[in-house]
Amino acid sequence: MSDGSIDLSADARAKAWSTPLEDFHVADPVLFQTDSMWPYFERLRKEDPVHLSKGNEETGPYWSITRYNDIMAVDTNHQVFSSEGGITIAETPPGGMPLPMFIAMDPPKHDIQRKTVSPIVSPQNLAKLEGLIRERVCLILDDLPIGEPFDWVDKVSIELTTQMLATLFDFPWEERRKLTRWSDIATASPESGLIESEDARRAELLECLAYFTNLWNERVNATEPGGDLISMLAHGEATRDMPPMEYLGNIILLIVGGNDTTRNSLTGGLYALSKNPDQEAKLRANPELIPSMVSEIIRWQTPLAHMRRTALQDVELAGKTIKKGDKVVMWYVSGNRDDTVIENADSFIIDRDNPRRHLSFGFGIHRCVGNRLAEMQLKIVWEEILKRFPKIEVLDEPRRVYSSFVKGYETLTVRIPARL
Ligand code: HEM
Repeated sequence: MSDGSIDLSADARAKAWSTPLEDFHVADPVLFQTDSMWPYFERLRKEDPVHLSKGNEETGPYWSITRYNDIMAVDTNHQVFSSEGGITIAETPPGGMPLPMFIAMDPPKHDIQRKTVSPIVSPQNLAKLEGLIRERVCLILDDLPIGEPFDWVDKVSIELTTQMLATLFDFPWEERRKLTRWSDIATASPESGLIESEDARRAELLECLAYFTNLWNERVNATEPGGDLISMLAHGEATRDMPPMEYLGNIILLIVGGNDTTRNSLTGGLYALSKNPDQEAKLRANPELIPSMVSEIIRWQTPLAHMRRTALQDVELAGKTIKKGDKVVMWYVSGNRDDTVIENADSFIIDRDNPRRHLSFGFGIHRCVGNRLAEMQLKIVWEEILKRFPKIEVLDEPRRVYSSFVKGYETLTVRIPARL
């Protein structure tokens, strides 16, 4: 183990440093599932920071951008690096259902659709949501079992983020776990075991569309438009005539955007603290550090490992020529560990000087819409945890998600010790 945060066998490191660079395929989900991608990225940052990989059948060839500043350069140049061709490295599989959504659009359409949903995270709306989120966080935490093992991912991370999404959509409360399921299957590969086939995924996503179409129809006819996301889309000038698949795409975007990411930051934070007891002691001695710790968790976790672009013209980057049409992958997960920009980047340090200096929310016109909402939610959870539980023990290593896009956890077994 190097710093307590990266559990890596000497074998994985030796393999990463002995594999020829031309055989690197850092998008292999197995590397993420086994948490062994770190030395591959470390080597790329040192030896070939803008690297062309052959990829495999699923991805085709792709460029890996691995240093902080090069990632910034790509992310802030949407004129050359387009989102239109898709934002994940994998193409829509054969038989799969391509979904238009504004994260995968360029201006002007992107800008108009983004503007339609942005009021949901205006400072006024966040202030309104804060009390509600705190109330729900308290209920969830007060209901946790004491003195016996349970899965933190299911009981806390999933439940909390699902409740938040249900609030944003004003979704039928009792059925809110449908949102979790749709979020999971939207990004799952058939190898993950979550879905049987592309046909099965299509069928479930069409159920999602049917469900949300009913909600749209209810809200579009309301005399007073509600402040929820569906009402915003149904009444928005730029979105009210969207074709059904575009509606579905944007719903999936909002579900996945708000769900997986915050969920995995909630789990990642607890895990990081358990690996770094000195940081936990610092936090408990000084809860004022919560906001800066939240940013550090989001950097350290990097819940979305990459975003992809497509080059619209030939372009030079770090001495390499990227050709028009090439796939360009910004590895946020690597840029966030670039120690030429972030000191001691592999370490989890909750009181860094500039904690919001990270790439996890991206930059440029697609910078995460929900970033302040996510931070607020995590801040509330940690405030309420510190008030209640002097200790949460992590009993085992987590099981990680099979994906090089969503960087997260399937399970994390914990126990809250009974008080004497
Ligand atoms: C820790 C939590 C989160 C992380 C790490 C995260 C990360 C990201 C990233 C990396 C992007 C793309 C940035 C780029 O391409 O430059 C993004 C976009 C987006 N996120 Fe988040 N996100 C989080 C939470 C949320 C929440 C809570 C919501 C909404 C409720 C949300 C909604 C969106 C949307 C709608 C976009 C598309 C923005 C656009 O294309 O203009 N995200 N997010």
